[in-house]
Amino acid sequence: MILNSVFVVLIRAALALHPPTNLPPAQEGVFTVFGSSIINADVDAAWNLLTNFSDYPNWNPFARSQVIVNEWGVELSDQTPFEGAILKITTQIPALTPPVNASTPSDPLNTHITREIVSTVQPELHRAAWYLDSPKAVLDAERWLALSKFIDDDGGAKTFFETREVYNGSLARAVQELLEDDLNQAFQAQADAMRITLEKY
Ligand SMILES: *[C@@H]1O[C@H](CO)[C@@H](O)[C@H](O)[C@H]1NC(C)=O
Ligand SMILES: *[C@@H]1O[C@H](CO)[C@@H](O)[C@H](O)[C@H]1NC(C)=O
Ligand SMILES: *[C@@H]1O[C@H](CO)[C@@H](O)[C@H](O)[C@H]1NC(C)=O
Repeated sequence: MILNSVFVVLIRAALALHPPTNLPPAQEGVFTVFGSSIINADVDAAWNLLTNFSDYPNWNPFARSQVIVNEWGVELSDQTPFEGAILKITTQIPALTPPVNASTPSDPLNTHITREIVSTVQPELHRAAWYLDSPKAVLDAERWLALSKFIDDDGGAKTFFETREVYNGSLARAVQELLEDDLNQAFQAQADAMRITLEKY
């Protein structure tokens, strides 16, 4: 009985340090960027924050603006993400120093604007992905974002947020040399900002 409880506590402690991943297996590539956080909030609240692109300027120090547009670049009135949606994403790499809000000035030298395509929206699995709209042989870069619910050792329900992007293609090595450290910083900055934003509610 006592041994059993010790075992349960140990298992829970191990899970609290490394909650199980909800990301799909990674493709091979030239390099991988990653960020994660453990959030003291409900997984559905985290999913709503992650998929509410209109709200990004108010909290996200990396993706300062993320807008669903039509093929001519015009913003759609309904910004609910769907598979096949075209995104115009404006990022700061490295990310701004948090906390940020909609009026936080960007650093023009670190501003990147990309056109991406939403490949996955799985509300039941709390997973989404989008990839750079460029020929895969040149730059193949798909960013995954996943949330999962887990119970920490105090019995509290927490959310594990993970985001990962594998870069491949002929330009990947150059992107790695220029941006790998700053991209890792930016992915982690978004993960931390998500935690701080959700824990404020
Ligand atoms: C998304 O965020 C905006 C801006 O904060 C807010 O007005 C809107 O109600 C949110 N939408 C949803 C579906 O939560
Ligand atoms: C918004 O962020 C800026 C810093 O970027 C800060 O000076 C300002 O007070 C913030 N505004 C609000 C309403 O929090
Ligand atoms: C990554 O790029 C290399 C070289 O272009 C290619 O041979 C390989 O198939 C690519 N990997 C994936 C998973 O697409």
